[in-house]
Amino acid sequence: MIRTRYSAIALALSLATAAVSLLAPASVSAQADNQLEVFSWWTSGGEAAALDQLFAGFGARRPSAEIVNATIAGGGGSAARPVLQTRLAGGNPPDTWQVHPGWELLGQYVEAGYVEPITELYQSEGWNQVMPQGLIDTMTRDGQIYAVLAGVHRGNGFWYNKKLLSQQGISVGSSLSFDEFFQAADKLKAAGITPLCVGDSGIWASAELFENTLLGVVGPEKWMGLWNGSVAFDSPEVKQAMTIYGRMLDYENSDHAALSWDQATKKVMEGSCAFNSMGDWAYGEFHNARLVDNEDFGWVSHPGTDGAFVIVADGFVMARNAPHRENNAEWLKAIGSKETQEAFNPVKGSIPARTDVDRSKFGPYHNWSMDSFKTATLVPSVVHGEAAPAAFQQALNDAVTTFVTNHNVDAFSQALVSGMRAAAPTTGL
Ligand code: BGC
Repeated sequence: MIRTRYSAIALALSLATAAVSLLAPASVSAQADNQLEVFSWWTSGGEAAALDQLFAGFGARRPSAEIVNATIAGGGGSAARPVLQTRLAGGNPPDTWQVHPGWELLGQYVEAGYVEPITELYQSEGWNQVMPQGLIDTMTRDGQIYAVLAGVHRGNGFWYNKKLLSQQGISVGSSLSFDEFFQAADKLKAAGITPLCVGDSGIWASAELFENTLLGVVGPEKWMGLWNGSVAFDSPEVKQAMTIYGRMLDYENSDHAALSWDQATKKVMEGSCAFNSMGDWAYGEFHNARLVDNEDFGWVSHPGTDGAFVIVADGFVMARNAPHRENNAEWLKAIGSKETQEAFNPVKGSIPARTDVDRSKFGPYHNWSMDSFKTATLVPSVVHGEAAPAAFQQALNDAVTTFVTNHNVDAFSQALVSGMRAAAPTTGL
């Protein structure tokens, strides 16, 4: 049974349950009720359909348990994370929540003691053998692992309406340069078609357009340099990326600030604009609308980013003092299972974290993305909390909000230099 609500759940038995092993049989459960509260921001059509697949995986293991679906709308978690933070600080955690590995998991939740290690599930479920060590490392602190991944999104997707482009005599090959994009954009504009769809009522979506453009200009090696301090945000190549980003914004839809990310994707589907730079949760929207890969829509890496894979992985955790600890262990086991990963990811757009899935169960986009994961340089996303601390993520969003209206490259780069300086003392960056 699934119930949607957002409300406090009593912590009556939190102390009693804290000592129970993750592997303990249900019979020793001290749970007050048979629930599981799952906190996420998966509310768009594609996201909600995918979340249902995780619920089904859990339901098969715990048929009598009631799922409390605590979602907070707002792509990228911009609205959900502050609510979660308040709950955690108030000692009122959901059982489990959606999290990105890297800084977000380790810096915000592990550091503060809000989550428990699930290392023993990795052992009992054999996940160490079937999930890439590089991904596990981004969830590990002091030898303990703190989350299990439902899937791995590719952040640097560039989606397009295939029929619309061919009507305009524009064909996109296996990669797209900035010059090729601008040529296509001019042609579309001349035909009265909006070239680029953006839905940045949540500013992160425009920050993502910038993130992808920055990576496309500086390349993966310097991208990593931005996070280890060897490349500065006022370096010439970063400023060049900002200039190109400003140029791209000149081709965006005028109602961008009124739209959410998925409404922008919908505009691509409807043909009222041509391209959309977005992580492959956009695939989930195409899939949910029953559109067909390579027929109705196409994709390519965001200009300049071919050969790079921006990782935006989605994990779930075990809250410290989780109210429904044993249900949660079953939830996490379901998420890491082959069946659930094979059911969830085709709907969500991400690829499975497990490498032993049956690839024939996935369509053309997923197989392309799985190949990309194997061969591309994997880099963390800053917009989705992996590459840098939350303080810098916020500074980036603020700087993007200003840049979208004033296009001032110097002010933009200075804001990021200051943002990184402010974040550095606490992080050692
Ligand atoms: C998450 C995705 C989600 C996207 C848009 C990202 O931060 O990792 O799972 O679909 O935000 O809401």
